[in-house]
Order: sequence, then C-alpha cells, then structure tokens
Amino acid sequence: MNVMIIGGGGREHAIAKYIAKNQKVGKLYALPGNGGISEFAECVKISAEDIDGIVEFAREKAIDFAVVAPDDPLAMGAVDALEAEGVKCFGPDKKAAEIESSKIFAKELMTKYNIPTARYKIFDSIDGALSHAALSDCPIVIKADGLAKGKGVTVAENFREAREAIISCMKNKAFGKSGERILIEECLTGPEVTVLSFTDGNTIIPMISSMDHKRAYDGNKGPNTGGMGVIAPNPYYTPEIAEECMKKIFIPTIKAMKNEGRTFKGCLYFGLMLTVDGPKVIEYNCRFGDPEAEAVLPLMKSDLLDVMIAVRDEKLADIPVKFKDGASCCVVCASSGYPGHYLTGYEIDFGNAANIEGVEVFHSGTKLENGKYYTSGGRVLAVNAVSDNLTSAREKAYEAVRNINFEGMRYRSDI
Ligand code: AMP
Ligand code: GLY
Repeated sequence: MNVMIIGGGGREHAIAKYIAKNQKVGKLYALPGNGGISEFAECVKISAEDIDGIVEFAREKAIDFAVVAPDDPLAMGAVDALEAEGVKCFGPDKKAAEIESSKIFAKELMTKYNIPTARYKIFDSIDGALSHAALSDCPIVIKADGLAKGKGVTVAENFREAREAIISCMKNKAFGKSGERILIEECLTGPEVTVLSFTDGNTIIPMISSMDHKRAYDGNKGPNTGGMGVIAPNPYYTPEIAEECMKKIFIPTIKAMKNEGRTFKGCLYFGLMLTVDGPKVIEYNCRFGDPEAEAVLPLMKSDLLDVMIAVRDEKLADIPVKFKDGASCCVVCASSGYPGHYLTGYEIDFGNAANIEGVEVFHSGTKLENGKYYTSGGRVLAVNAVSDNLTSAREKAYEAVRNINFEGMRYRSDI
C-alpha cells in the first residue's frame, strides 16, 4: 500500500521510521518531510497546510493511507478532505480536532460531562477580561481560545503580567483570530503528565505516560517552547493514578465526543496535572506530541501502522497494542536563540551518536544537501535513548548528545 505522512518534524521522523518497518508499505511519502525523514520516505515539497495540494498529490500517487500528524492541517480539515477522496486517514476530522483547536470548546465539553479540569471563565471583551483579572488572586492563567503555535498560554504571577497577556491577545492581536476570545483559568499545581492514547472513538488504549519539559532552560526557567525533552514513563504516574484517569477522564472524554457527534479517531493527547484533588486536564491535543512521540513510539512493541489502520477502521478492540518494559529519555538539541530568533544553515556533525546502543536521532529541523545535513529550524534534533531504566536511558541520551555538534547548539542538561 502507498502511505503518506503529513508534517516534517521529529514526531513525523519517528512515525515514518516505524511505519517503514511494516511489510505492507509500498511507497512512503512525507509532505514536506525533512532531512532525516528522507532516509525512510520520499519527501515532497508540499506544505502541511496546503490541503488542496495534499489531496491532489494523494490522487496522483494513488495513496491508500495517510497519517496527518500536525495540529494545523487537522484543524483545517485535511482528514475530511482526504477521506472524501477515498484516502483512509489516521487522525481526527475537523469537528473532532476542535478538542485542540478551540480551548473554549474543550472546556465546555469537560464542564458538561463532569471531566475534572481547572475552573475558568470565558471572555470576548477586553474590559470584561481585565476587570475579572483585577479581582482574581494571582497566579492566574490566560489562554487564547485557538491555535497559537504553543504560545497562547500565559501563567501570570501578578495583575501586570495578566494585563499584558490580555492586551497582547485581545487588543494587539498577537495570535490573530485565535485570541479574539480568551479563557482565564485557576492556576493548578502539581506534576504534569502527558498521556498519548490511541482511540477509534469506542475503545481507548493509553500509551506509556511521559513528561515533557516545556521551558527553554535548566530548572524549568525561561520561555515556553514546543518541548525541550521528555522522559517516559512518567515517574509520578502510578498504576492507581492511571486507573483513576481511565475512569474519570479518558473514557468520559471519548464518550462525550461521540455523544456530541464528534467521534474522535486518532491519537488523543491528554495533558494532565496531578493535583492534591486528583488528576485534572490542563489541555487536550488532537495528535501525537512532539517530542513525546520520539520518546514513546520507540517503546512500542506492536506494529504502528497496523494499529493506525485499526483506529481508522474502528477495530482497535480487535488487536493487541503492546509496549516494552524499560524507559526512554529524549533530549532536544536546539539552535541558539530558540524559541526566539535563531539562525539556520549550519552543518551538523553527528559523531558516533547513532552507534550508541538504544539511541535514535530524530530530525526536527534539518535539511539534506549533497549528502550533508544542515540545521533548518529552532528545534533541530530529538535524541532519544531507550534502556532498562531511566537512569541508564538518560546517560545514553546525553552521551549521544555530547557526540553531536553544530554551530550554536543548545540543550537542557536536566531532562
Ligand atoms: P498549553 O499550551 O496548553 O500546553 O499550556 C502550556 C503550559 O502552561 C502547560 O504545560 C502548563 O505548564 C501551563 N498551564 C496551562 N494551564 C494551566 C493551569 N490551569 N494551571 C497551571 N498551569 C497551567
Ligand atoms: N510537546 C507538546 C506538544 O506537542 O504539544
């Protein structure tokens, strides 16, 4: 069968590598892909947001199955458009993807179906938002309703920060239409856990839990990024907590979506906080996390493409989805300046990294030119190591990272 993957980051590199292992795969394409992905798939210069271009390409190449990995094309209806052409897809349709693309929709869903989350209020006027913030005890959390490339959330320590966030969102339109409506939320505390799950709308199978490190610098300092590193499993996520999450959050969420006529099929990402009052949902994403996918997929024993097809065909209950024992540690190598301004085009020296047992080097922002790899993004590589336990996974990941070099390379040393 001919398969295409939409996207071009470390997450898509991991997906491409594991899909390529399936014997059923004939041609494998990535739109647009990147330097690392080109080892497994033919990369085609079509943007992940060019829905018409993607559909036309699928028709031309007789694509049988597509994996739509990033949030933007999912929110734009890439799955609806491809399925209408007869291309089977892994990923939610536009209506189901709203669980990520509208934080207000997600909040109202949780309230209606009693799914534990932070208390909140919705605002569509700047004056209402400012007076609510003035009367609230800080910290409070300000969130743009729509997609904002991971930058739409501010945890405001005082009214001045809250005011700045509200004005930037609603008056200066920092996130365009995404910030026309905002949420102001109670600030929760506790360890954060990511649980990626496979669901076909009826059955839900959580993958190994993980912990992202979103802040740019060591000690959880500095600005939020797309993610600077991951460990899996998450040490705070005990079997008892997992059972509670299944009962109070995971199953109620897929039932709620089905009941609303928005059956969710694909990877549903639960961003959770383990508070003293129990686990609560911080956010839903309608896709694999990046870099969570690079840490979690290497721990999967079952064939990824077979599971994805079962999700699409609503047959997830019929196949085993198994994970390995052991642990992953994934460290992101970024360009100096990320998540702010950074330069690209530097040659990457991988040293001996890929030969260290258990290590996989996923490319987030690279391009391949004349047999050499060059940096092409803020997050450049996601270096993952799998080992028997977290301590040795971490040692191996950092050993690999110390082998790698490019101008301005920066990474967190405390993943
Ligand atoms: P998001 O962009 O939704 O992933 O949010 C970014 C980060 O903001 C999360 O990973 C949390 O660390 C933090 N955050 C979001 N909502 C809350 C909340 N209600 N309480 C505390 N922290 C939050
Ligand atoms: N690493 C967080 C995300 O993918 O949203």
